[in-house]
Amino acid sequence: MQLTETIREDLWQAAIQARSRAYAPYSRIRVGASLLTAKGHIYAGANVENASYGLSWCAERAALAQAVAAEGPALRIQALAVVSDQPGPFPPCGACRQVIFEFGPEALVIFQGEERVLEVPIQELLPHAFRLSR
Ligand code: THU
Repeated sequence: MQLTETIREDLWQAAIQARSRAYAPYSRIRVGASLLTAKGHIYAGANVENASYGLSWCAERAALAQAVAAEGPALRIQALAVVSDQPGPFPPCGACRQVIFEFGPEALVIFQGEERVLEVPIQELLPHAFRLSR
């Protein structure tokens, strides 16, 4: 899918803003994510860590929880941006790829690459994604 320059910038800025609210006292890596729904709304989230490390939430899934709470289960992701405060690359982790796919099998994912920001369809980031037939 094609994004306008304005929407791309809005998404990126929303992710940067969300990043400033990250709770990351353990890794000290602050991450923000934002997503654009098929309805045209943007929701954002940040990583939320825990003393029991495995309970930490990634920013992408925090953003998704915001979106589902606002739009309900029919929500579809058109595009998702993720930005950390570390030098790239910083693509979504494997678990987040599966979760993005669930709500946006055609979603465009925007993230920091080695040298520049990349835009990659989720199906390229997660080939042969797991799905259940309904
Ligand atoms: N993290 C994310 O928020 N998104 C990802 O896709 C990868 C990792 C967070 C989890 C943890 O708080 C920190 O980055 C270091 O792994």
